[in-house]
Amino acid sequence: MISEKTQALVLAAGKSSRLKTNRTKLLEKICGQEMILYITKLLEKLAINSTLIVGHKADQIINTVSQHHNNNINFIEQSEQKGTGHAVMIAQDILDKEYILVLNGDGPLITDTLINKLLHEHESQNATISLVTSCVTLPAAYGYGRIMQENNTVRIVEAVDYTGESKESCCINAGIYVFTKQFLLENLSKLTTNNKKNEYYITDLIKMASEQNLKIHTVHAPFDSIRAINDFKELWEADQIKRAELISYWMQHGVRFLMPHNVLIDHDVQIGSGTVIGTGVHLLNGTKIGADCTIESFSTIKNCTLENNVTIRSHTVLSDSIIKTETQIGPFAHISSNSSIGTQSEIGNFVEVKRSNIAHKTKAKHLSYLGDSTIGSHVNIGAGTITCNYDGKRKHKTTIQDSVFVGSNNTLIAPLTINKGAYTAAGSTITHNVPENALAIARAQQVIKENYAPKLKQPSEPEKNNSRNNDDSDMLFMGAQKADSETML
Ligand code: UD1
Ligand code: CA
Repeated sequence: MISEKTQALVLAAGKSSRLKTNRTKLLEKICGQEMILYITKLLEKLAINSTLIVGHKADQIINTVSQHHNNNINFIEQSEQKGTGHAVMIAQDILDKEYILVLNGDGPLITDTLINKLLHEHESQNATISLVTSCVTLPAAYGYGRIMQENNTVRIVEAVDYTGESKESCCINAGIYVFTKQFLLENLSKLTTNNKKNEYYITDLIKMASEQNLKIHTVHAPFDSIRAINDFKELWEADQIKRAELISYWMQHGVRFLMPHNVLIDHDVQIGSGTVIGTGVHLLNGTKIGADCTIESFSTIKNCTLENNVTIRSHTVLSDSIIKTETQIGPFAHISSNSSIGTQSEIGNFVEVKRSNIAHKTKAKHLSYLGDSTIGSHVNIGAGTITCNYDGKRKHKTTIQDSVFVGSNNTLIAPLTINKGAYTAAGSTITHNVPENALAIARAQQVIKENYAPKLKQPSEPEKNNSRNNDDSDMLFMGAQKADSETML
C-alpha cells in the first residue's frame, strides 16, 4: 500500500495576511466546515499519517483539528513564519517515510482521486519530486507560482518575483507535492531567502532538483480542484464551487431545488429523494431531511432531523430538533433546543416551541410560546397561548396531557399539569393543575350595563366649559375616566 510508504505535511502556519482580519483563513468555513478539515479528513480517508505545521493561531487550529481526529494527527509549531520552505525545514526531524506529501493548508477543494494519482505516478515514474499543476487562463493564474521551463530546467517563479509578460505562462503550481525523503534531507538546508518576500520558498526545491538532473513529474488537475484561498473573494469562489457540487449531488439523488443558486447547504446535510427545496433556504450543519418533504422559501434548518413527508412552510427557523412524519410547520414558526414534534401535528404561524416535546396529531396553529413543555397527542393549543415557564430565576415545566383543549389566549403558569381530556376556557390564566376531563375557567366575569354607552359619549362639566378640549377623541377619553370611577363606586 502506497499510503504506508507516505507521510503528509500540511502547511498551516501562515499569517493569513491577505484575509485582512486577525483570524486564520484555515478556520474559515466552506459549506459549514473549517477549510483545514477538508484536507485533514481527506488524508485520514487515504490512511496517510499526517503532521500539521502550525503557527499563527496555532491553538485554535490544534483545537479544531483535534476535535475531529481522535489525536491521530501530529502538530509541529513553526513559531516564526519564514515561508513554505521553512515550514518543511522545521519538520525535518520527523520525516520517516519514503514519500513526503506536502500540501498547502489553503487548498480545500482537492480530491482523494487527485492525491492517489499523484502518489501512484510519483512511484511509477520513479520521480524525485512530483507536483500538481493546472494550466489556466489569466487572470486566474494571478497570485500563483508559475511553472517555467527553459534551457532544460524547470523552476517555479512566484507571482511577486515574476517580471516577465503576464501572458507568457499559465501553468501554475497548485501547492501539492510529493518529495522523496532523501532529496528533502539533502537539499532543505540549501534553501535561501534570496527573493522579494525574504522567505524560504518550498518551490525553490524544484529548481534544485532540476539542476541536479533529478526527475520532476507533473500531474495536471482542473483549476477548480486546486484553487487556493488567500482572501475573502477566493473564499467565496471556493464556497460556491463546493456548494454547487453538493447541490448537483443531491439533484442526482432525486432532490428538486426550485432556485439552486440561492440555497445554502452544508457539507454534511442529507436529503431524501422526492424532497423539494424552495428559494433562499438554508440547510445547515447536522440536518437530515427525509423523503418527499417540502421546505418552503427562506426557511433555516440547523442540526435537525425531519422525517418523511414533512412540510416546512416559508420563513421558518428550526434548530436542534426533530420533526416527525407528515407534520407541518410554519409559516413563521420557530422551533429550537431539543424539541420534538410528533407525527401529523401542526405548528403554525408565529408559534415558538423551545425545549418541548409534542406528540402526534396535536395542533398549535397561531401565535403561541410553548417552552419547557410536554404536550400529548390530539391536543389543541388555542391561538395566543403562552406557557409562563420562567419566574425570573428558574424554568418550570408545563405538562398538557392527551386530548386536552387549551382555549385561545391562555396564560399557563408553570409548573402546571393539565390532565387528560380537560378544557380550559379562552382568556384564562391557569395557575393550578386541571383535573382529567374538567373545564377550567380563570378569567374575570363579564358585566353588562344596559344603555350605558351613550353616557360615555356625553362630555363632563369641566370639558363643556373648556373650548380647547372639545374634539371627539378627548371627550371620549374623559368620559371613560368618569365611567371607571363610577364602576369602582
Ligand atoms: C504558494 C506557492 C505558490 C503556489 C501557491 C498555490 C510558495 C513560495 N508559493 O504561494 O507557488 O502557486 O502556494 O496555492 O510556496 N505557510 C506556513 N508557513 C509559512 C508560510 C506559509 O505554514 O511560513 C502555509 C500557509 O498557512 C498556507 C500555505 O503554507 O496554508 C501556503 O502559503 P501561502 O502564503 O498561502 O502561499 P502562496 O503565496 O499562496
Ligand atoms: Ca496560498
